[in-house]
Amino acid sequence: MSIKKFLSTSLALTGLLLAFVLLFGLPKLAGRAEAPAAPAVAPQNVGVDNETCLACHGLPDQQITLPSGEILYLTVDREIYNNSVHGKNGYACVQCHTTLTSYPHPPLAAYTRRDATLNLYQSCGRCHYQHYDRALDSVHQKALATGNRQAAVCTDCHGAHNVRPPNEPRSHIPQTCQLCHSEIYKRYEESVHGSALLGEGNPDVPSCIDCHGVHDVEGPSDSQFHLFSPQICAKCHANDELMAKYGISTDVFETYVADFHGTTVVLFEKTTPDQETNKPVCIDCHGVHDMREVDDPESTVIKENLLQTCQKCHPDATLHFPEAWIAHYQPAPDNHPVVYYVNLFYSIFIPTLLGGMGLFVVTDAGRRLYSRLKERQHG
Ligand code: HEC
Ligand code: HEC
Ligand code: HEC
Ligand code: HEC
Ligand code: HEC
Ligand code: HEC
Ligand code: HEC
Ligand code: HEC
Ligand code: HEC
Repeated sequence: MSIKKFLSTSLALTGLLLAFVLLFGLPKLAGRAEAPAAPAVAPQNVGVDNETCLACHGLPDQQITLPSGEILYLTVDREIYNNSVHGKNGYACVQCHTTLTSYPHPPLAAYTRRDATLNLYQSCGRCHYQHYDRALDSVHQKALATGNRQAAVCTDCHGAHNVRPPNEPRSHIPQTCQLCHSEIYKRYEESVHGSALLGEGNPDVPSCIDCHGVHDVEGPSDSQFHLFSPQICAKCHANDELMAKYGISTDVFETYVADFHGTTVVLFEKTTPDQETNKPVCIDCHGVHDMREVDDPESTVIKENLLQTCQKCHPDATLHFPEAWIAHYQPAPDNHPVVYYVNLFYSIFIPTLLGGMGLFVVTDAGRRLYSRLKERQHG
C-alpha cells in the first residue's frame, strides 16, 4: 500500500468516525419538548357571565345564512361546553369571544363558513400563545399562507366548545389527522406501526406526531425532512432496550450508516443539509406510512419485492443485484466472509502499521539524540 493510499484510507475512516460522532452527538431532530398547557389568563375575571350569552345561544336551532349561502349554526350546547376542559375550569364565553360582550354584536366579517373559523380560532392564542407561536412555523400555516384554506388550525383538531384531552386514548391522535388525511391514515392503519397502535394500543410505536411533530408539523416540503428522516427512526430503532422487546435488531442503524448509501447521506446532512440527495434513506426501501414487517409478503424489502425496490434508482439492476449487497447484516465468517476478513485484516493491519510507524519515529529520534549526546561527550 502506497503512503498516499494509506493516508486517503485513514482520512476516509476518520471522516466516517466523525460523521458517526456528529450524527449521534447532535441533539435529535425530534426530541423537542412540547410547551405545557400554560394559560396566563385566570377564569371568570370578566363581568359577563355565560348565562347572558346562553339566553340566546342556549336556545335550540339558532342559525343564520352567510353571504356565501352556507349556514352558520349559533346554538351552543350548555352541557357539552360545561364538560369541556374550559367549561370545567370555569372559563367564560367572553374570555375567548372578547369582542362580543354584548348584543347587538359588531357586524359579522365572514363571507363563508371557513372565514368564520379562520377569524374565531385566533382567540386560542390569547392563553395558549406558546402553541400558537409554535404553529406559525408548521406546514399547515405555510399552506394557509399560500392560499390553501383547508389546512388545519386549532379548532379543526381540538374543536372549540368541546375541547378535551387530545391524546386520551393515544389512538385519538391519528384519528384527528384522518379528518383530512384519510388516504394516509388508511395506509398507516395497515402498517406495522399503525396496526400496533390502533389494534393493540401499543405505546411503543409512533403515531403521526412522533414523526411529524404536533403544532410545528413538518413534512417533505421542508427541504431537510427527507434527508434527516433516518434520525426519526433512530429515536426507537437505535434503542437497544426498546427493540429487544420485539426481537428487532438495532444493527440496522449502524449498518445503514456504514453502508455506501448511508455514508453519503450522513455526510450530506453535515455539509449541505438544504439539498436533496438521491441516496436512499430508510423510507426509500421500507416505505413510509405502509411500512411492513420485513417478512410480510407485502413488505417492500422481502426477497420477492426487493429487486423492484432497488430498481427505483438502479433501473438496470437484474435478479442477482440485491445479492451483491449485504443489507443490514454485520459481516461474519459465515455471512459475507470476504467482507468480514477484509475488515478484520484492516482492523489489525492499520493499528499495526500506525503502531510500527510510531515506534519507528520514537526509536529513530532516540537514536539521533543518543548519537548527538555521545558526540558532545566526545567533543
Ligand atoms: C339577544 C341575543 C344574543 C345574545 C344575548 C348574544 N348573542 Fe351572539 N349572536 C346573536 C345573533 C342573532 C348572532 C348572529 C350574528 C349577528 O346578528 O350579529 C350572534 C352571533 C354570535 C357569534 C358568531 C360570530 C360573530 O362574530 O358574530 C358569536 C361567536 C356569538 N354570537 C357569541 C356571543 C357571546 C359570547 C355572547 C355573550 C356575551 C352572545 N353572543 C350574546 C344573538 C345573541
Ligand atoms: C375556548 C374558547 C371559546 C370559548 C370558551 C367559547 N367559544 Fe364560542 N367559539 C370559539 C371558536 C374558536 C369558535 C369558532 C368555531 C368554528 O369555527 O367552528 C366559536 C364559535 C362560536 C359561535 C358561532 C357558531 C359556531 O359554533 O361556530 C357561537 C354562537 C359561540 N361560539 C358562542 C359561545 C358561547 C355562548 C360560549 C359560552 C357558553 C362560547 N362560545 C365559549 C371559541 C370559544
Ligand atoms: C382564557 C384562556 C384560554 C383560552 C382563550 C383557551 N384556553 Fe385552552 N386551556 C385553558 C386552560 C386553563 C387549560 C387547562 C385546563 C386543565 O389544566 O385541565 C386549557 C387546556 C386546553 C387543552 C388541553 C386539554 C388537556 O386536557 O390536555 C387544549 C387542547 C386546549 N386548551 C385548546 C384550546 C383551544 C383549541 C382554544 C381556542 C378555541 C383554547 N384552548 C382557548 C385556557 C384557555
Ligand atoms: C393538526 C392538529 C392540531 C392542531 C392544528 C393544533 N393541535 Fe393542539 N394538539 C394536537 C394533538 C394531537 C395534541 C396532543 C399532543 C401529545 O399527545 O403530545 C395537542 C395538544 C395540545 C394541548 C395540550 C398540551 C400539550 O401541548 O400537549 C394544547 C393546550 C393545545 N394542543 C393547543 C392548541 C392550540 C392553541 C392550537 C392552535 C394554535 C393547536 N393546539 C393546534 C393537535 C393539534
Ligand atoms: C414512522 C414515521 C411516520 C409516521 C408514523 C407517519 N409519517 Fe407521515 N411521513 C413520514 C415521512 C418520513 C414522510 C416524508 C416522505 C418523503 O420524504 O418522501 C411523510 C410524509 C407525509 C405527508 C406528505 C406526503 C404525502 O405522502 O402526502 C403527509 C401529509 C403525512 N406524512 C401525514 C401523516 C399522517 C396523517 C400520519 C398518521 C396517520 C403519518 N403521516 C404518520 C413519516 C411518518
Ligand atoms: C383540517 C384538515 C387537516 C387536519 C385535521 C390535518 N391536516 Fe395536515 N394538511 C392539511 C392540508 C390542507 C395540508 C396541505 C396540503 C397537503 O399537503 O395535503 C396538510 C399538509 C400536511 C403535511 C404535508 C406537508 C408537506 O410537507 O407536504 C403533513 C406532514 C401533515 N399535514 C400532517 C398532519 C398531521 C400529523 C395531522 C394530525 C396531527 C394533520 N396533518 C391534520 C389539512 C389537515
Ligand atoms: C416511536 C418509536 C418508533 C419510531 C419513531 C419508528 N419505529 Fe419502527 N417500530 C417500532 C416498534 C416498537 C416496532 C415493533 C412493532 C411490533 O412488532 O408490534 C417497529 C417495527 C418496525 C419495522 C418492522 C420490523 C419487523 O419486525 O420486521 C420496520 C421495518 C420499522 N419499524 C421501520 C421503521 C422506520 C424506517 C422508521 C423511520 C421512518 C421507524 N420504524 C420509526 C418503533 C418505532
Ligand atoms: C437499501 C435498502 C434499505 C435501506 C436504505 C434500509 N433498509 Fe432496513 N432492511 C432492508 C432489507 C432488505 C431488510 C431485510 C433483510 C435484513 O434484515 O437485512 C431490512 C430489515 C430491516 C429491519 C428488520 C430487522 C430485524 O431485526 O428484523 C428494520 C427494523 C429495518 N430494516 C430498519 C431500517 C432503518 C431504521 C433504516 C434507516 C436507518 C433502514 N432500515 C434502511 C433494506 C433497507
Ligand atoms: C433512492 C435511490 C436508491 C435506492 C432505492 C437504492 N439505491 Fe443503491 N445507490 C444509489 C446511489 C445514488 C448510489 C451511488 C452511491 C454513491 O456514489 O455514494 C448507489 C450505490 C449502490 C451500490 C454501489 C455500487 C454502485 O452501483 O455504485 C450498490 C451495490 C447498491 N447501490 C445497491 C443497492 C441495492 C441492493 C438496493 C436495493 C436494496 C439499492 N441500492 C437501492 C441510490 C439508490
